[in-house]
Amino acid sequence: MAHDSRIDGDRDPRHLRLFVALEIPDDVRAAIEGVHGGWHRGAPPARWVRPEAWHVTLAFLGAVPAEGVPALGDALAPVFAGRETFRLHLSGGGTFPPRRPARVLWLGLEDEPRGALEELQAGVAQALAVAGHPLEERPFHGHLTLARCARPWPRAAVERFVDASADPPGEPFVVRRGVLFESRLEPGGARYSVQTAFPLAPLAMEARP
Ligand code: 2AM
Repeated sequence: MAHDSRIDGDRDPRHLRLFVALEIPDDVRAAIEGVHGGWHRGAPPARWVRPEAWHVTLAFLGAVPAEGVPALGDALAPVFAGRETFRLHLSGGGTFPPRRPARVLWLGLEDEPRGALEELQAGVAQALAVAGHPLEERPFHGHLTLARCARPWPRAAVERFVDASADPPGEPFVVRRGVLFESRLEPGGARYSVQTAFPLAPLAMEARP
């Protein structure tokens, strides 16, 4: 029998479905959780991401052979260790794709210093490419995905969501690490678990005794 080299990585136990992301602190998660029910009510059908699964994706790798995970860690660790912690603040809601009927609803992000998030993501993308995992050639737009629309949402529903989420609660928070997450596709939705965490360098001020 001919050997079929195409492996369905999402089902193959020798592969892990991986992505690199930043976590959302519990107090910020709770603040958003307290209001986001109001964004669902009366809205068209959508699969809302469970609050415990909220994150900021930096890079989606898809299925990676289990034996390749340590090398990935080796490639990613210096990217984070070589950059200082920075602050993020969740900002108003928006949708993907731009200027087209909405398929994904998200919250935006403001970083401080400005550009820190984009630079970190570019570093991750470059390290992954060198390690043999080139990413899609899409410009990075940092966001927290809240929901995926069952069918593209009409404009009026999008406007209601954008208005309601314009000034989300939650304090700015310090990003201290990045995470390589494993995603397991289960009937109730994807379950994410931390594979490896990569600390950012403490700010020079914080490092002083
Ligand atoms: P996003 O929806 O937050 O942008 C884990 O699956 C994460 O990887 C998702 O939250 C998604 O980020 C991101 N991702 C990017 N491309 C993906 C793809 N082709 N399939 C699944 N997830 C993808």
